[in-house]
Amino acid sequence: MILAIETSCDDTCAAVLGGEGEIRSNVISSQAELHDRYGGVVPEVASRQHLSLINAVIDESLSEASVSLDEVTLIAATEGPGLIGALLVGISTAKSLAAARELPFVAVDHMLGHVAANFLINDLVEPPFLCLIASGGHTLIAAVEDYSRYEVLGQTLDDAAGEAFDKGARMLGLPYPGGAELDRLATAGDPERFDFPISMSGSDSLDFSYSGLKTSLVYKIKDMAPEEVRRCRADLAASYQDAICAQLIDKCKKAIEQTGYEKLAVGGGVAANSVLRRQMHDLAEELGIRLAVPPTELCTDNAAMIASAARYLDEVPYPEYLDFDAFAKQ
Ligand code: KG4
Ligand code: ZN
Repeated sequence: MILAIETSCDDTCAAVLGGEGEIRSNVISSQAELHDRYGGVVPEVASRQHLSLINAVIDESLSEASVSLDEVTLIAATEGPGLIGALLVGISTAKSLAAARELPFVAVDHMLGHVAANFLINDLVEPPFLCLIASGGHTLIAAVEDYSRYEVLGQTLDDAAGEAFDKGARMLGLPYPGGAELDRLATAGDPERFDFPISMSGSDSLDFSYSGLKTSLVYKIKDMAPEEVRRCRADLAASYQDAICAQLIDKCKKAIEQTGYEKLAVGGGVAANSVLRRQMHDLAEELGIRLAVPPTELCTDNAAMIASAARYLDEVPYPEYLDFDAFAKQ
């Protein structure tokens, strides 16, 4: 019975996973509303909020799972990458709980957690497979050769795909975090109304770039009268979203063709995007490969994915983990 904690950004999360890897609870307390007034996550505000929420979130995850702390046999927490102050709240709480009960502990890489969300859905995603991870802070394509490791084949050279969604959403006057809001607004828009550049499409590289696309939206909006922008908001959102997804799909296609993997999986908050999910299915069909797409609540940050990754990592016995630290960057 694993109790896992995830506090790398602005969601305070705790989950309980049973012995067969079944999700007994997956509690997520979002701070989005708190950060909306600042237009993005304020690190110190996030750390303080994690501190005030973490005990209640853990209690809720145990009670929802109908599990007492006495039944927990392993504690896991995200060690990085993320906001250092936020990570420290989760990892310190997890280590304290583990130490008080002399339980073993596992520190989990957040990105491996996003990969491991796929192990929660079904056995189709047994490695080896190729995995696209697109979140607010990272965008990468990884070769997953076994359950506990991944090798990065390509990653963003500037902004992450989620960042492109969030910044574009902000320019269109949508609240933070903008990805899901932009996704919703775009359903009423025409994705072919505006042309946006699809960066890196001419190269065989598996790296991504989103800063040019973002700049292109800035200039498009600048060139339009405010009234016209308001009228075309849904079309702008749909066209911009399409360009973000087109690059993700293009790189997945190239990665499959270059590596010969027969399975593709996805993870990270952007994998909750409705257009991307549809296009991933179309791509899998076109290439004749198998596809794993976790439900949206397992794509965005959660602690069940951290527990899932912990199942396949080496446990560290008490008290060897007491000096474990968090890290902001990989
Ligand atoms: O994985 P995640 O929850 O946190 C990080 O590790 O960063 O990803 C958050 C990102 C944010 O940029 C958010 O706007 C984006 O995922 N996101 C979406 C959608 N839902 C969340 N982007 C596009 N469409 C969505 N439906
Ligand atoms: Zn994440």
